Amino acid sequence: MIAKPILTVLSGQPVWPPPVWMMRQAGRHLPEYKATRAEAGSFLNLVTNPELAAEVTLQPVRRYGMDGAILFSDILMVPWAMGQKLWMEEGEGPRLTPITDMAGLAALRPGELRAAAAPIFETVSRVRAALDEANSKTTLIGFAGSPFTVACYMVEGRGGSDFVRVRQLAYSDPQFFARLIRVLTDASIDYLLAQLEAGAEALMLFDSWSGLLSPSQFRRWVIDPTAAIRRALAQAAPHIPVIGFPRLAGPMLADYGSRTGMQGIGMDTAMDPRWAAANVAPEMALQGNLDPLVLMIGGIALETEARSLLSAMRGRPFIFNLGHGIEKETPIEHVTALLRLVRGG
Ligand code: CP3
Repeated sequence: MIAKPILTVLSGQPVWPPPVWMMRQAGRHLPEYKATRAEAGSFLNLVTNPELAAEVTLQPVRRYGMDGAILFSDILMVPWAMGQKLWMEEGEGPRLTPITDMAGLAALRPGELRAAAAPIFETVSRVRAALDEANSKTTLIGFAGSPFTVACYMVEGRGGSDFVRVRQLAYSDPQFFARLIRVLTDASIDYLLAQLEAGAEALMLFDSWSGLLSPSQFRRWVIDPTAAIRRALAQAAPHIPVIGFPRLAGPMLADYGSRTGMQGIGMDTAMDPRWAAANVAPEMALQGNLDPLVLMIGGIALETEARSLLSAMRGRPFIFNLGHGIEKETPIEHVTALLRLVRGG
């Protein structure tokens, strides 16, 4: 068995040049994705079709030789698999029927999650089989949204930029909010364990909106549930590494790093990598955080930013990635130019 660079880095050992993958690498910047998406008819059809979902998961691996293959799915498939109605508003984003009280919560069916999400686990098995078949060095990364971020969408029923109603609710009805976070914590454990059983080699927790919280709320709704998920996974599968991505957490990244038990920490675009390197344990892998906009723009700006990130991370366990998802207008040639630069060391 050949060593997979991402797994080596997540074990705490630096690899140089660093392994690389990109958040949202399977998506609308790729013409082959758009073709498969059109064939599927809708985003949800694509996610729940194991053959096509495995195909789009592998597309960026084939085209770019990415070191990570992120499962093609979505963080909102957990509420969907528990019975919350989910649909994509074309050109706008996800919509869910909002859940704001105990009755709404009681109508969810967490016991049916595994059966409903079976096509997603089937995608994981297919991707893993294809990578093994090719004797690939690419690591298959499964994922879930973190309880707080998924709760934001479940309560408001749509995306947003500040989730004021959710954050108010967490103060005004902490009993309800704690119950929601508890349901999501248990569901995420179940969902991630099923991905491991299907062949995922590493896991990632996306907490896109954690940075909206005050420090006390961050500890309660982000750190505690994340640590609980990590503990449960470690019990069932001690060797599986987990990457946490508490987006816009700022200096709370230090507490997140020391208290959640992660093997890797994703840095968002706004994080100073030198600050992160100084404030999380040296054996903990850092991942990130090139600005997706500079990748879209390319040229000398891209080269300057990429070199500066590489020099900040040199010598420590590091996975090159973006600070958030790749923009759909990103030219393919910019991605290939970046990969050449990163791999040139
Ligand atoms: O390549 C990958 O990274 C794997 C697949 C993946 C998707 N979503 C596919 C997707 C992953 C890991 C996600 C995570 C996700 N989904 C997050 C966390 C990361 C982040 O971006 O902060 C969040 C908040 C969501 C919720 C979500 N799903 C939104 C807000 C949207 C609409 C925005 C958009 O880009 O259209 C989605 C839809 C979605 N998820 C698309 C993709 C490729 C676009 C759907 C399409 O093809 O029309």
